[in-house]
Amino acid sequence: MYITFDGKRFEVYHGETVLTVARREGIDIPALCFSGEAAVHPPTSCLVCLVKVAGRFVPACATSVADGMSVESETDEVHQMRRSALELLLSDHISTCQTCGEGRKKCKLLRYMSKYKADRNKWNSGQKIEDDSHFPSSAKCIKCGICVAVSPALTFIGRGNNLRVERIDNGQTAIDNERLSRACPTAAIVSEERYHFRQSESGQNFADAKGGGTP
Ligand code: SF4
Ligand code: FES
Repeated sequence: MYITFDGKRFEVYHGETVLTVARREGIDIPALCFSGEAAVHPPTSCLVCLVKVAGRFVPACATSVADGMSVESETDEVHQMRRSALELLLSDHISTCQTCGEGRKKCKLLRYMSKYKADRNKWNSGQKIEDDSHFPSSAKCIKCGICVAVSPALTFIGRGNNLRVERIDNGQTAIDNERLSRACPTAAIVSEERYHFRQSESGQNFADAKGGGTP
């Protein structure tokens, strides 16, 4: 069975998605709510992985391959849709996002913002304030659901703009912070080592260390 990506032909197998084929073949499709772990399936929510198939925009992570499928991924139109999805995610994100210091180290969101030239202020009111005491940082969380799918100690609470991740067990269940830190696509969860390193930095960097903490 074969599909094409922007005219290039690739052999694919039953059960694969457009995103898994792209990953295998080295085709760069952005993905924020896709964990990459076989057993971890958060709901499809970020929509930054959009591609165009048969005239429709579909999420690559949730679209199964079919023989002869033609996928458009690197067109201006698809890039514009990804840019719009990123700008919507940024509407509920801390507006100093690009200065948080995690960008080159772990934050996929920042990497994609740069690649797709997303305007972080397009829909952002600038009202979101970092809350140092909250784990994970609700100002940096994009509600991808990966940490909730990974850890039984975490769940979503609230709705709409008030949706946030909370611990549900009063700290009774051990949390694998290193794994969560690797899985979280933003700096909403950072590793303990990184958190303490940032705490020890001075000036601008110390201010940047607010939030994105550890449990
Ligand atoms: S804390 Fe990170 S992994 Fe969890 S929902 Fe928010 S962005 Fe996703
Ligand atoms: S990675 Fe596909 S919708 Fe988020």
